[in-house]
Amino acid sequence: MEFPTNLLHILIPVFVIIGQVSSQTDEPDFFREFCSDDLGNYTAESTYQANLNHLLANLTTLASSSHFNNYTVGEGTDQTYGLYMCRGDFNSEECDTCIKAASTKTLEKCPVQKEAIMWYDDCMVRYSNRNIFSLEEVWPIYYRWNEHLNASDPLQFSQLLADTVNGLIPQGAYNTSNRGYATGQAKMSLFEDLYVLIQCTPDILGAPCERCLKVALRNVGSCCNNTLRIMTSMYLPSCWLLYSSTPFVREHDTTPPISPSPSSILPPPPRPPSSDVIDNSNTIPAAITPGH
Ligand SMILES: *[C@@H]1O[C@H](CO)[C@@H](O)[C@H](O)[C@H]1NC(C)=O
Ligand SMILES: *[C@@H]1O[C@H](CO)[C@@H](O)[C@H](O)[C@H]1NC(C)=O
Ligand SMILES: *[C@@H]1O[C@H](CO)[C@@H](O)[C@H](O)[C@H]1NC(C)=O
Ligand SMILES: *[C@@H]1O[C@H](CO)[C@@H](O)[C@H](O)[C@H]1NC(C)=O
Ligand SMILES: *[C@@H]1O[C@H](CO)[C@@H](O)[C@H](O)[C@H]1NC(C)=O
Ligand SMILES: *[C@@H]1O[C@H](CO)[C@@H](O)[C@H](O)[C@H]1NC(C)=O
Repeated sequence: MEFPTNLLHILIPVFVIIGQVSSQTDEPDFFREFCSDDLGNYTAESTYQANLNHLLANLTTLASSSHFNNYTVGEGTDQTYGLYMCRGDFNSEECDTCIKAASTKTLEKCPVQKEAIMWYDDCMVRYSNRNIFSLEEVWPIYYRWNEHLNASDPLQFSQLLADTVNGLIPQGAYNTSNRGYATGQAKMSLFEDLYVLIQCTPDILGAPCERCLKVALRNVGSCCNNTLRIMTSMYLPSCWLLYSSTPFVREHDTTPPISPSPSSILPPPPRPPSSDVIDNSNTIPAAITPGH
């Protein structure tokens, strides 16, 4: 809690902050693509290509009415399985815009791959020729961080972050009314708060969602050029973990963020492991992306 450190954070100009504070009229911010080389490529004019185009059109249509959905097109080896998710605090118009952009971008970034994932700052589109629904997938994992904002006390920071995420897990992972989404805030110092957003695809609620978030948490120490940063976004296929010392969660949505679902409570989470120390044996190899 040294004053100069906090003062420094206050003086960091806003434009270096990762792109979550963009206004609603901006183009959605593309983050990363993953084009799988494992499941083969399709050829031009093939049935798979037709099915994929059809799927992407359908996902775009669905995005105007819900924050998450899945869809399937075709049969047999030409079948394509797709899903999308938007950030829980974004409205359906923003979701629609983001999924539209992602559906176009994927044909540019992964023009032949049968399986791909597009991450935007605020949404994700995924598809494959295998059934990806209700699967907990924690690879690949991509990070974005602000290189100017190192944690001044890494041990204390990682403990605070782990405590905050663990505190959000009952609402985000296990309270099905929240459809995988939860946000929270913790005091980082006298002058600074830590804002945290967790989100799982709603098809893996419960223990798989909790496990996915714990994978993200285990990678916090090693993710960002091996330095703890206090402003980081972690994107996995099945969950996201975003945290920052600057508020970034939208306040305008007070209604349950994701499309309606029966509100029921899954069994309570098991006791968290006694330690959240970084476990290298479980560290997922990750592509490193510099903050911008
Ligand atoms: C699929 O296409 C990509 C890009 O052209 C290429 O790098 C990759 O080797 C191809 N994979 C297969 C299985 O043909
Ligand atoms: C999916 O797309 C096809 C053709 O583009 C259309 O006929 C169908 O109504 C769409 N379904 C949904 C659920 O959007
Ligand atoms: C969506 O996924 C569920 C399994 O999670 C599956 O039962 C359902 O058929 C899928 N819907 C479509 C339209 O593919
Ligand atoms: C953050 O930490 C890294 C690694 O210890 C160091 O190289 C870098 O200069 C630090 N950046 C700031 C802004 O303190
Ligand atoms: C589950 O979430 C809903 C909506 O956020 C909330 O109203 C309800 O109190 C939560 N249930 C529990 C047991 O926390
Ligand atoms: C990682 O840190 C080193 C030295 O601290 C620096 O030279 C390098 O550019 C950094 N890489 C990224 C991707 O930020």
